[in-house]
Amino acid sequence: MKLKVLTSNPGKVREYQKAFDDMGIEMEHHHIPYDEIQTSELEEVVEKGMAELRAKGLRDFIIDDSGLFIDALKGFPGVYSAYGQKTIGNQGILTLMKDIKDRGAEFRCCIGCDIDGETIVVTGRCRGTILHEERGDGGFGYDPIFSPDGKRSFSEISVEEKNTMSHRGNAVKLLREQLSKHVSEQKH
Ligand code: IMP
Repeated sequence: MKLKVLTSNPGKVREYQKAFDDMGIEMEHHHIPYDEIQTSELEEVVEKGMAELRAKGLRDFIIDDSGLFIDALKGFPGVYSAYGQKTIGNQGILTLMKDIKDRGAEFRCCIGCDIDGETIVVTGRCRGTILHEERGDGGFGYDPIFSPDGKRSFSEISVEEKNTMSHRGNAVKLLREQLSKHVSEQKH
């Protein structure tokens, strides 16, 4: 079974390949653009994107969308996380959070998969807090200011450990559950 992974990031394709290798699923990198609508929900972005791609005749593919949702900022940067990172960056978020006591935040990752005419949409979450300063040199994006345990930032945690608890890791687990049903149905 082959799935096209639609992304501009080849690293994501390698991660999906690693996560689904044992299920005999081959991931192919495709760079097919689709509209990301303006809405506050990742699921809506993914569902609308999938509908557009399906209307263009595309089948058997994966798209995803992730973001950091900060409680005290009413979910900002959320679906605008890539833009927020490019513009105000981590220092800008820390400035917005200055003097705010409620540090609660959640990373979310929504994966949409079209397979054999069926649509699977799963969302993985990882709750944590926004630190008061950037910590660590690993990771990317908001990793230095997000802590899953109130102690270490995602930048101070190995990629392997991050995958066991992260929004993306949790979304992949949910997709594996759904796809394994699919693979076993095909065998019978
Ligand atoms: P994407 O939809 O996976 O490309 O993620 C959108 C944006 O959210 C990225 O550009 C990052 O700024 C942020 N983001 C998503 N996942 C992570 C993560 O695991 N760590 C840090 N930032 C992330």
